This record gives sequence, structure tokens and C-alpha cells, in this order.
Amino acid sequence: MSEKTATLTIGDQSWSMPIHSGSIGPDVIDITKLYGQTKAFTYDPGFTSTASCSSEITYIDGDEGVLLYRGYAIDELAENGDFLETCYLLLYGELPNHAQKEDFDRRVTRHTMIHEQMTRFFSGFRRDAHPMAVMVGVVGALSSFYHDSLDISDPHQRMIASLRMIAKMPTIAAMAYKYYIGQPFVYPKNSLDYSANFLHMCFSTPCEDYPIDPILARAMDRIFILHADHEQNASTSTVRLAGSSGANPFACIAAGIACLWGPAHGGANEAALLMLQEIGTPDRIPEFVARAKDKNDPFRLMGFGHRVYKNYDPRAKIMQKTCHEVLAEVGHADDPLLQVAMELERIALTDDYFIEKKLYPNIDFYSGITLKALGFPTAMFTVLFAVARTVGWIAQWKEMIEDPHQKIGRPRQLYTGAAPRDYLPYDKRD
Ligand code: CMC
Repeated sequence: MSEKTATLTIGDQSWSMPIHSGSIGPDVIDITKLYGQTKAFTYDPGFTSTASCSSEITYIDGDEGVLLYRGYAIDELAENGDFLETCYLLLYGELPNHAQKEDFDRRVTRHTMIHEQMTRFFSGFRRDAHPMAVMVGVVGALSSFYHDSLDISDPHQRMIASLRMIAKMPTIAAMAYKYYIGQPFVYPKNSLDYSANFLHMCFSTPCEDYPIDPILARAMDRIFILHADHEQNASTSTVRLAGSSGANPFACIAAGIACLWGPAHGGANEAALLMLQEIGTPDRIPEFVARAKDKNDPFRLMGFGHRVYKNYDPRAKIMQKTCHEVLAEVGHADDPLLQVAMELERIALTDDYFIEKKLYPNIDFYSGITLKALGFPTAMFTVLFAVARTVGWIAQWKEMIEDPHQKIGRPRQLYTGAAPRDYLPYDKRD
């Protein structure tokens, strides 16, 4: 039972509402009975003050720049672990022991191929289709192939669907890339680890091997870890909302991919790199900073600012380090884009506008340059984000389905449209 309460007063009536405390982080005022008692809704467009669920998976303290997966700091996981360990942690709540890790890696690896008939879907897309459009379509179509893992009430089927998505997402993403550049699909090679296999499927061809560079494969893996989950962000909330109706997991993840595509969310890494390219040289930065500050100009510095992080995005620090490692490895340490990025970061961090509004570089600021150096075109950046975030979406979806109090998500509204009025027959209108 909650001991703390909040009191709401409307006119001369007051109501008491329980306050719940999590393990860490802000308390929440439980307003589930509010409408029944007061006939009023709460109003919070953009959910800036709303906890839409309780969750044990990921914790963010935006003021302190903290991100924890199941209690473990993101930098420790990114420095010491691998992506499949992070997947296990997010799904099961604990770090795996040796036997559990080997078993999990084996189970994911067994599912890397997709049904051969699915390969034909790709040719239905226009040659110049954005790979994210292909991802939305093909991932949604998984539900038309894997009928034996659609029953969400069966824990075994839920787990098989989860493993299938984690395993197949890199394969589908690599195929979307190959289709985009007009090369033949490359099948997964299960002797490689998750991230190396992804690079292999993207960059080898039937006529030429792609020798795995351990520094680049490690960087890819770290990028996946950094993007694996991020609490109740827009795409995760989309997955939860879609799943709350009982929709199958493949359809829910496709909904998450659609949401991720937007430039305010997963599309920001692509937008950030395009912006750096547009700026071109450090001497043009003041012009763009002035535009970002101009209220009459819709331009924003892409890769800056975050709804939750008002101190520093802890992922950005690791991403910056990874970026330097990759550029040094591929011999692009003096890449002009990096010079622009570093100078822009320096200016923005010392400029009053950005300091006052707490606009710090976010993960996308450096991930674009890194992914470019790894060899990916900008259109693939959000696809890579989707590959990484799949495990977060699934872990959150599973948590919701397994919650005995789960019900369909159904927000209400402040109606501002026309009041009831009489229908005017067509022949009586002008
Ligand atoms: N450049 C210039 N001004 C900005 C920026 C920016 N990137 N971001 C916010 N502001 C200003 C904004 O104009 C507003 O000013 P005012 O108070 O005078 O109206 C103030 O800062 C607050 O902005 P907001 O839009 O109310 O903040 P938000 O929390 O709704 O938006 C955001 C967060 C990430 C959508 C926004 O900062 C943004 O558009 N950033 C650029 C896109 C980007 O990098 N997105 C990636 C987010 S990280 C990846 C992920 O987790 O998905």
C-alpha cells in the first residue's frame, strides 16, 4: 500500500490520490481513478509528465546523464560486454553465466536465415525505395511466415518470436541494403558473431570476401549496445500501444520501425550527417548556429537536444570515443566532417542559447560520422538503429504482455471541435 498521497482540488471538492515510488527515480501520482471520481482528464500532449507504465528494464536520469539497462551502467556494458549479452540482460533481467550465454548465442544464431520465399518480397519494392520503407514492410510480413510463434498467450511462442526477430533483423537489414545498392543478397555466416556477421552480410559479395576488422566489428557491436533500449521513447511506446491490443509481435515491431523512422527520433543520425555535410567547413558553423537560434527559422541543429537528457547523453560520450577509434582505423582521422562536428560541439557547448536550453550533443551527433566511416550510406543509418532497438522493443513488449494488469492503451482527449449541430441535407447547402 502506498503511504504518500497527493490531493487534487477542483473548486470546493478535493480528492486524494496515491503516490507510488519506484526503486529509483521520480514518484508517480496514480490517477487511474481520476476520471471516475472527478469527470476530468489529465492533459499532457507529448507525455512530458506522464509515466505510461511501470517497467523494470531501463532507467534514465536525464538531469544526471545516467542510463542503466537492468541496473547496469551503459558505459560498463558497452566497454566490457557484447551485444548478445545485452540482449540476454534486457530480455531476462540478469547477465548470463557461461552456459546461458553459449546457449543464447546458439539459439539466436540458429534463427539468422529468413524463409527463402521472403527474399522475393524485396523485388516488389521500387529500386530506389528507402531501406526503412523496406524494413517496415518486410518485418511486418514476418507474421505471414512464422505462424508457429504468433500466439502471444503462449510463453514459448513469445520467446521464439523474440529470438527470431533479434536473429533475423540484421539479415533483413543487410538485404534491404543490398537491394538498395543493387547487389545480390549475402546469406548469414553463423561462424561469425552477431555484429561481424552483419558486416559480412552487408559488405561481402559472392565474388569478394569482406575480411572482418575486429576494431570495426567491435564498434558495430558497441553501436548496437548503445541503441538497444531507451525506456518509453516514441517507438517503444508505439510498440507497447500496438501490442496492447493483442497484435502479434512482428506487427508490433513493424509499427515501432515506422515510428523510429521520423527525424525527431531514429532519423536524427541521418539528418545530423546531412547537416554536417551541408555545413561543410568549420567557418560556416556560425551561420548555422545563428539559424538554429532564430525563432523564425525552423532549422534545428540535428544531433543536439533530447527530451529526457538535460545534462549530457551518456551514450554520446561512448559514441564519440568509438567514432575516433573507427576513423583512425579506416584512416579518416582527419575527415573534414569530424572537424566540423568537433568545432560545432565546442561552439554549441559554450553558446548561451544551448547552455540555457540544456541542448547537448546526443548519440546521433557522432553515430552518423561513425556509420559513414564503417561504409554505410546515410539511408541505412536508421535501419541500423532499428536492428539494435529490436531487442528493447521486444523486451518491453514481453514485459507488457506478461503484466497481469495489462489492458489496451486508450488515451482520451481534450475535444476542441464543433459542438453538436443539425445535419444540413445536401440540397439545402450552397
Ligand atoms: N536546435 C536548436 N534549438 C533546439 C533544438 C535543436 N536541436 N532542440 C530543441 N531546441 C529548442 C527549441 O526550439 C525550444 O526552444 P523554445 O523554448 O525557445 O521554444 C527548446 O529548445 C525546447 O525544445 P523542444 O522541441 O520543446 O524539446 P523537446 O524535448 O520536445 O525535443 C528533440 C527534443 C530531440 C525532439 C529536439 O531537441 C530536437 O528536435 N533535436 C534535434 C533532433 C535530434 O537530434 N533528435 C535525436 C534525439 S536522440 C535519439 C533518440 O533517442 O531518438
